Amino acid sequence: SVRIGVLTSGGDAPGMNAAVRAVVRAGITAGVEVYGIYEGWQGAVDGGRFIRPMSWEDVSGIMIQGGTVIGTARCAAFRTPEGRRTAVLNLILAGIDRLVVIGGDGSLTGTDVLRDEWPDHIDALVAWGQITAQDAAEHPTLRVAGLVGSIDNDMVGTDMTIGTDSALHRITEAIDAIASTAASHQRSFVVEVMGRHCGYLALMSAIAGGADYAFIPERPPAADWHEHMATVLRRARNAGRRSSIVVVAEGAADREGNPITADAVRKVLADEMGEDARVTILGHVQRGGVPSAYDRWMASMVGCAAVDEVLYGDREPQVIGVRANRPHAMSLLEAVKDTKAVATSIAEGRYEEAMAARGHSFVQ
Ligand code: F6P
Repeated sequence: SVRIGVLTSGGDAPGMNAAVRAVVRAGITAGVEVYGIYEGWQGAVDGGRFIRPMSWEDVSGIMIQGGTVIGTARCAAFRTPEGRRTAVLNLILAGIDRLVVIGGDGSLTGTDVLRDEWPDHIDALVAWGQITAQDAAEHPTLRVAGLVGSIDNDMVGTDMTIGTDSALHRITEAIDAIASTAASHQRSFVVEVMGRHCGYLALMSAIAGGADYAFIPERPPAADWHEHMATVLRRARNAGRRSSIVVVAEGAADREGNPITADAVRKVLADEMGEDARVTILGHVQRGGVPSAYDRWMASMVGCAAVDEVLYGDREPQVIGVRANRPHAMSLLEAVKDTKAVATSIAEGRYEEAMAARGHSFVQ
């Protein structure tokens, strides 16, 4: 019988549960078995109780929960060929040769490496007597589909990644809360948000929260940013604003590559502008909590599409993202390669190129 494995890997993201639920139920509806691989790739490496069948009821009520109920990990063993071979062995022993992997670019890269190595690992496992020739004949290749679960919205080829919208809501609520206390005291606040190399959360939350200024990796300011920020903030104060809010992406830097930290910004506000300034680092609050409606339906939609892909897709492995609110498939290899190229372009100062390559046009 056909068996699909589903796992979540890397940093958790709200909406991952909706994707898992969709995979399980779409799989059952299509007449196949779906196995949960618990604790991310670590579960595939550990095998046994970490790989279990999932029923329709097993995924009841999980959609409204944050995080991922099947667990996730950033798995070191999976980065070694030996670890991946063990994962192949455990998958074969469970009769699984189709996978839906929900994770960020690192997890999806690892998935593609495993898929590529699969036939070689099978040969080795047969040679060592760990699986039978019949096992090998029944599972000659691995069929995979990737879903991008990450609050960062940093993947090339999809308008949104699962979790981004929920995180954006959480950040916006936090900025709203900060705005009221800031205005009461006529204070300035620096809010640091997550996003790794991607400024999507910072920029969108700055706009949605009505912030005064934002620092994002894709638009690094010149070394004289102090003056520019001061001018913009003073203008707002002179126009009657009772507070100033500056959003800093965790990956922000100036054009010379010097990091712009929340504390560095606070110092400028306090020492150079004489403001009563505070820092709030939102941290993992941004990643936890209930998924937004968008993340629930979007993850459900791509989850169903991923099942179709691993059952009926007759092409190289795909990532299923969204374009104009519809599922959008792209080559896993290309998506991962282009996403790496964006990070390199940003690191090397080729910002326009990075933004054009990323594909969603949030910085114009
Ligand atoms: O990729 C998601 C993310 O939350 C990033 O925004 C952040 O840089 C990173 O993960 C934090 O990782 P960890 O949870 O392992 O500290």
